Amino acid sequence: MDLQLSGKRAIITGATKGIGKAIAQTLAQEGVDIALCARNLDEVETTIAGLKQLGINAYGEVVDIQNKQAYESWLAKSVEQLGGIDLFVPNVSAGGGMDGEENWQRCFEIDMLGTVRGCEILLPLMKDGGAICLISSTAAVENFIAPQAYNSIKAGLINYAKHLSQLHAPRKIRVNTVSPGPVFIEEGAWDQIKEHMPELYDTTVGQIPMGRMASAEEIANGVAFLLSPAAGFITGANLRIDGGFTKGIQY
Ligand SMILES: NC(=O)c1ccc[n+]([C@@H]2O[C@H](COP(=O)([O-])OP(=O)(O)OC[C@H]3O[C@@H](n4cnc5c(N)ncnc54)[C@H](OP(=O)(O)O)[C@@H]3O)[C@@H](O)[C@H]2O)c1
Repeated sequence: MDLQLSGKRAIITGATKGIGKAIAQTLAQEGVDIALCARNLDEVETTIAGLKQLGINAYGEVVDIQNKQAYESWLAKSVEQLGGIDLFVPNVSAGGGMDGEENWQRCFEIDMLGTVRGCEILLPLMKDGGAICLISSTAAVENFIAPQAYNSIKAGLINYAKHLSQLHAPRKIRVNTVSPGPVFIEEGAWDQIKEHMPELYDTTVGQIPMGRMASAEEIANGVAFLLSPAAGFITGANLRIDGGFTKGIQY
C-alpha cells in the first residue's frame, strides 16, 4: 500500500530513542521531512545525521519539553525549517512513577501540556491533509500496576484527541491516538524493569497472549498509517497496539 506520505513535513518530540526514533525513521523512509528534539545533544546530532542519509530534510535541536519558552520557539523554528507543517507526534512522556504530587505535576507538564501546547501552535498552521497522532498507553484504558499520574494523564490525552478530532474534521485535519502496550526497547523502561524487577517483567509478558512485548517499529508502523492519507477517513480513533495485552472488549 502506498501511504502517500512522501513530501509531507512532520514534527516529532523525543525522537532520539525508542518509539519516537522509530516513528522518525519510519516516516523518513516514506519520504517525510522531519523536525525532532530531545535533551541529549550527541543523540540529536546522530539521529539527524542518520535521517539525512535517507535522503530527506531533517532538523533537530536540544529542547526540554518542560521548558515552555524553549519548546514553543523550537516548534516555530521547526515549521520555518520545514517550510510548513503537515504531521505532528507529541511523543515525550514523563513516564510512570509514584513519587507523589511532584510526579503528577511533571506528568501534567510534560505529557499533557507538552501535547496541548504543541497542538495549539501547530493546528492553526496545518492545512487540508494535516494529521496528528497522540501517544497514549494501554495504561490509560485498563488497570495497570497502581494509581499513578501516568495512567490518568494518558487517559486524558485520549479524551483530548477525540475532542480535537471533532473540532478540526471540517478543516480536513485528523487527530488520532495510538496506545501501545508494553514495548521492549534496549535500555528503555522495560529493559530496566527486566533487570531490576524481573517478576514484574515476567508477569507482564505473561499477560500478553502473543507472548512478547512490542517492538518500537511495530508502534511506529501504526502511527505512520494513522498519519497517512491511506487513513484519510479515520479520525478520533484510539488504536491499541498491544498483542492482546488489554482484555476489555472495544465496541
Ligand atoms: N516503552 C513502552 O513500553 C511504552 C508503552 C506505552 C506507551 N509508551 C509511550 O511512548 C512514548 C515514548 O516512550 P519510549 O519508551 O519510546 O521512551 P524513551 O525510549 O525513553 O525515549 C524518550 C525520548 O524522548 C526524549 N525525551 C525524554 N524526556 C524529554 C524531555 N523532557 N524533553 C525532550 N525530550 C525528552 C528522550 O531523549 P532525551 O532523554 O535525550 O531527552 C528520547 O528521545 C511515551 O509517550 C510513552 O509514554 C511507551
